[in-house]
Amino acid sequence: MRVGVIGTGHVGLITCASFAAVGHDVVGTDADRSKIDALSTGDMPFHEPGVADSIRAGMAGGRLSFSHETADAVREADVVFVCVGTPARASGEANLVAVEQAAREVVAHASAGLVIAEKSTVPAGTADRLTRSVALQRPDIAGSVEVVSNPEFLREGHALHDAMHPERILVGADSDAAFDVMRRLYEPFTSEGARLIETDIRTAELAKHACNAFLALKISYANALARLCERAGADVEAVTEVMGADSRIGPAFLNAGLGYGGYCFPKDLVAFDHLASSLGYDFAMLREVARINDEAIDATLEKVRDALWNLEDKRVALLGLAFKPGTDDVRIAPALMLAQRLRELGATVVGYDPHAAESAVRAQPELEVAPTAYEAAREAHCVVLCTEWEEFQELDFDKLGEIMATRVFVDGRNAIDGERAVAHGFHFYPTGRRPLTPGRA
Ligand code: UGA
Repeated sequence: MRVGVIGTGHVGLITCASFAAVGHDVVGTDADRSKIDALSTGDMPFHEPGVADSIRAGMAGGRLSFSHETADAVREADVVFVCVGTPARASGEANLVAVEQAAREVVAHASAGLVIAEKSTVPAGTADRLTRSVALQRPDIAGSVEVVSNPEFLREGHALHDAMHPERILVGADSDAAFDVMRRLYEPFTSEGARLIETDIRTAELAKHACNAFLALKISYANALARLCERAGADVEAVTEVMGADSRIGPAFLNAGLGYGGYCFPKDLVAFDHLASSLGYDFAMLREVARINDEAIDATLEKVRDALWNLEDKRVALLGLAFKPGTDDVRIAPALMLAQRLRELGATVVGYDPHAAESAVRAQPELEVAPTAYEAAREAHCVVLCTEWEEFQELDFDKLGEIMATRVFVDGRNAIDGERAVAHGFHFYPTGRRPLTPGRA
């Protein structure tokens, strides 16, 4: 089948790669001309495992191309995906200007029978708005161009894997004809066992927000437990292990730490709350989830202050700057928020990240970064682990201790074996567990 993709950010590019990989003919386009120029020569705009190879393979095989012209992505297409950003307005409401603009451009070049699929995360009711604007813009084809909802469930860092092996595919549509197009499109995945869930459009739109908000809720539940365990002298890792062993709860997304970040959870939670209140429902639980998430940064900051006392003359090293491992994305990264708070209290902050240093400095030019974890830790009074990159498992505490001004380690992700750090003279502050002190470990 022929597929057009509008917007080549994280979602759009993986949509391009995965549909080309299963044999569809895909054309991607983006309002940012420089992105298309770079992609056409095989350059990737971000770090995402496997995507560069997959994009290049699609292009080399003649199944994937990029164009400046929306018309190239729409002409002859069976389905065009709208994958543009839906940032939050100051009020928290999702800003759908880019979605509307993209759809208008698609509709300008559309022929009868085209399916326009929303992949961007949008509030319930958006497809209805799009359908109404198609009717206004192109009365000639209005009845035969359909808008469907097909939310993505990709995790950054695993996005290509998630796209190629989806746990579920969600399609919300209003007609058998539209469902049929989407079934044919996803046949290479469903024939391998992927589950296709079909709903009405508003249900699909709402389900995407419901999933992200619930995952955020699980994380905040674990973080609230961490605060309680710290006060009670209990161990949050053991508590969540017990919880996770109950198949009704499950172990995923119960890792206490610095909290969730990234482009999706923080913005989607606020947008979902905004949608609920616009429909007359006060979804107060969502605001509490966000409050607990902010509190996780405060709690980590307090550990640093507890260990170091005044911060004015202190140097703090942050290990990991990306909002999670496996990506160079620092949007709403807890590490950068912590850096900001530490600086406000007078500390000198130096960060290290194996992939996100460049994007971190772009986002926060005042941030000093170092080329290795040890260089970041040199002369530091405290190290805070902010993102649980695999390589931090191998930290040499002997070496670290020798180059630091004082041996204090705050584990903001419970990723390190504290006993190992303490054996090298470190004062070790985990999250939601008892601090460990040399001589009393
Ligand atoms: C999230 C969802 O997991 C995807 O299903 C969804 O498609 C995507 O948003 C989206 O809407 O586009 P992503 O933002 O890539 O994916 O990241 P996650 O792996 O979900 O992690 C989000 C944040 O939660 C990270 O900062 C991570 O460190 C944090 N987290 C995760 C915790 O603090 N504790 C946990 O137990 C799990």
